[in-house]
Amino acid sequence: MLVTLEGLDGSGKTSCIGALKASPSIPAATYTREPTHTWYGEAVRRSLNDDDADPLAELFLYTADHAAHLADVIRPALDRGELVVSDRYSDSRYAYQGASLADRFETPVEFVRELHRPWTRPPDVTVYLDIDPETAAERSGATNKFERVSHLERVRENYERLLAAEPDRFVRVDATEPEETVVERVVEAVAQLTAGE
Ligand code: TYD
Repeated sequence: MLVTLEGLDGSGKTSCIGALKASPSIPAATYTREPTHTWYGEAVRRSLNDDDADPLAELFLYTADHAAHLADVIRPALDRGELVVSDRYSDSRYAYQGASLADRFETPVEFVRELHRPWTRPPDVTVYLDIDPETAAERSGATNKFERVSHLERVRENYERLLAAEPDRFVRVDATEPEETVVERVVEAVAQLTAGE
């Protein structure tokens, strides 16, 4: 089973992952993330820190990182029958690159989805940490170009589209609640979803 965590920067994904790893009610799992810690992920981070990076080129960097992540980590772990939990996954591309390509394509989210469709492995469940862009930018410190409020507004709209299109795949958690509450809800949700794994 593949579980992914998604949300705006500052939504608290990292604390949730820490709590999932530590919780006795979650079965043993392979924990992973995108961008990865490989050289593909390093290329992504270079682009992230370059305000002039071309958004289309950047989409392909993130997508290359995902392809390698799928081949090297995700598919092998799933093939071994493991539970896999990924901090960000394809929906981050659909939402974030869908936003950064808004003035390049008429339907940017669909464009990015189509690019993935023939070869990706969709998550079984996605926990979406829902937070307003102002709080998200404040919490994350808005350290990179994607963390600015105006951009996060577009990213959030894209996440909402993804949730509307596949309501059964997503579990929405209100991430404006205090951190302990958010973490507790995420652990509870994943424990329920993975019971019997
Ligand atoms: P993030 O998970 O915040 O990494 P870190 O904890 O190392 O800061 O991801 C970094 C940024 O990359 C974040 O602003 C979201 C963005 N991002 C995309 O734009 N597209 C993607 O496909 C992914 C995985 C991340």
